[in-house]
Amino acid sequence: MNRALDLLATVFADPARGAGALDDLRERWHELAPEEREALTPLAKLAAERVRAARRGDPATGAQLALGDASDPHAGPPSHAHSHAGPPSHADDHGGPPSEPDDYETPPIEAYEADDYAGPPSDAYEAPLRRERTVPHQAPEELLELLGLTTFRPGQREAVQAALDGRDALVVMPTGGGKSLCYQLPALATDDLTVVVSPLIALMRDQCARLTDLGHPAVMLASGEDNAGALEQIRTQRATIVFAAPERFASPQFRAALAQRTIALFVVDEAHCVSEWGHDFRPDYLRLTAIIKDLGHPPTMACTATATPKVAEEIVARLGLRDPERVRSGFDRPNLSFDVLPFDGEGSVARKRATLVAGLNQPENRPAIVYCGTRKSTEETAALLTQEGLPAVAYHAGLPADQRTRAQDAFMRGEADVVVATNAFGMGVDKADVRSVWHWALPSSLEAYYQEAGRAGRDGDPAKAVLLASRADLGRLVRFIREAEVTVDQVERLTSRIQEPTELDPSDDRDRILLAVAERAHAVTLAPGAGGRVRVSPTGQVDRAAIARLCRAATDRRWQSYRSIEHYAATGDRCRRRQLLDHFGDPSPGRPLGRCCDVHDPPTWVPPITVTKKHAPVEDGPPVPDEQLAPLKAWRKERAEGKPAYTVANDATLREIVRRQPRTEQELLQIKGIGASFVAKHADSLLELLDTAQ
Ligand SMILES: Nc1ncnc2c1ncn2[C@@H]1O[C@H](COP(=O)(O)OP(=O)(O)OP(=O)(O)O)[C@@H](O)[C@H]1O
Ligand SMILES: [Mg+2]
Ligand SMILES: [Zn+2]
Repeated sequence: MNRALDLLATVFADPARGAGALDDLRERWHELAPEEREALTPLAKLAAERVRAARRGDPATGAQLALGDASDPHAGPPSHAHSHAGPPSHADDHGGPPSEPDDYETPPIEAYEADDYAGPPSDAYEAPLRRERTVPHQAPEELLELLGLTTFRPGQREAVQAALDGRDALVVMPTGGGKSLCYQLPALATDDLTVVVSPLIALMRDQCARLTDLGHPAVMLASGEDNAGALEQIRTQRATIVFAAPERFASPQFRAALAQRTIALFVVDEAHCVSEWGHDFRPDYLRLTAIIKDLGHPPTMACTATATPKVAEEIVARLGLRDPERVRSGFDRPNLSFDVLPFDGEGSVARKRATLVAGLNQPENRPAIVYCGTRKSTEETAALLTQEGLPAVAYHAGLPADQRTRAQDAFMRGEADVVVATNAFGMGVDKADVRSVWHWALPSSLEAYYQEAGRAGRDGDPAKAVLLASRADLGRLVRFIREAEVTVDQVERLTSRIQEPTELDPSDDRDRILLAVAERAHAVTLAPGAGGRVRVSPTGQVDRAAIARLCRAATDRRWQSYRSIEHYAATGDRCRRRQLLDHFGDPSPGRPLGRCCDVHDPPTWVPPITVTKKHAPVEDGPPVPDEQLAPLKAWRKERAEGKPAYTVANDATLREIVRRQPRTEQELLQIKGIGASFVAKHADSLLELLDTAQ
């Protein structure tokens, strides 16, 4: 107790030098008895406050900070710090005196949700504090070790240097190429603030956790997080990296906190989300241009894995990047091998299934992602694999959100070795040890293929990308293109329907293309709306010729994409890696670390597949009388909701249910023909039926 009082006396005697004594006190806090802690808490809080006040009064930055403090509702000793009744509960939890961010009693920050957002009054931004940015003096190489790394990957050094030089940059690197490091390193080189905008909470959480684990001062803002604590760390200069989704900038508290800081670097990760041509379009990204401007255009870095020059130019224009340094790393992923396995003609589906099962049965190919072309096919394939003793989870946008989260979590945690997904599964999945990515169906472009295949082997260890190619599948792609085709009339209908600003939810490809065409024809302007919708305002201008040209261009783009993947799947006489690199405009030679591709090295790793002609499934069990089967058939009919009965279960499966009388989901799963998606959809009702029938 006496030692604690001594330390406090030291702090009060000279708050400017009191930080060390305060740290000492924190370390000794757990040695104090509970009643001693209670008695000392008000003094400790006051001491911490004095130290902070002294720090704010630092003559070197005092003048500018005073400007910030004037608008800071938390500046000055908060009166309630003294009147706090009783010890703060966390003092005991953490076994130390209240740490700095917590002992500030910040007024409750209203929980800000994207859906509350009512409009984009960009002129309501507080004028940011303009200060000279501190120019970091370290060389990129010196910074590497802060992340425990030894060498740069291609392009990283240039990107880091651009940020250190205070330049705008457009960083294009393949999926898993190492874009995060390009902004994390410059962020660690300065005490000023780096703001990283990211579209998904999962992406932020991951990166933020990795940085804080290494002892770096990163925070994130998202619903459900300790936002008050994070804001406080921003205001008090403790945090130097903040991760936030674009919606977050609608929060006045966040803007006020940013206004306290000099922004060293503004990062737009997954920057292609700003372009509505793409699958990942996020209307809230449209907000970023105004935000960058309002922050006084700090050095800005846009990162993406999308290589299309058109999208790249759109990013530069939309974000207003000024003469950006264009960093384009090579597109080679040396540790990946590329196989295209053709499946055409009679029995091709059975062979394709058998190949997938055999491939996934090899432990070195798991964990694995299997991409399918339709939602239905993800469920069927997951069921097939599960039946074959390879527990797989299905993932697609049609599943309820909690089921999706469960599937993703199970895969990320290694509880499910295989995820079978549509292209909805991808961005934000940073699982480093995926050993193979399979395409059960042809993706819509080579670009999409490389993004998805690139989710294999992010850890740098050997991994496979396997395309199971059937020409029959091309019909599906053609249908998609036809369905997404937009006509001048449709664009005109859209613009004539919109007489005043309207919020739309561009949920499918066609909607997005309609908007993209209308916007580029200057018939509408776009802005972010509430809850991820897009606010569309008419301009009153309708230029039919321009619209017609843009409609044609949109369709052409899709046919080009179609040809790229058709060609890749068909051309078996050129190195696959070379084809990919050429497509992305990367002239450098491919440098495979191991096996290159099926053209260079025949895929001997694929087990020989012989598919025996289909026989009726052999059931080993006594026959089941019809009257016992009838209730199950009636149940199946009801569950099929008008679709063919076999979409629920076939007769053999029903007979096996009668024989085994399963009581639990586990027991159900042991029956041939019943997989995870059956259980998710039907287990409850089936088990109830079996229970009452007893
Ligand atoms: N210089 C390096 N040395 C070793 N490992 C690295 C290096 N740079 C990045 N990595 C690792 O590579 C992996 C992928 O990096 P990162 O997540 O930054 O990729 P990305 O380019 O952002 O990919 P995506 O497009 O999927 O977001 C990470 O696990 C990261 O730790
Ligand atoms: Mg990334
Ligand atoms: Zn090759």
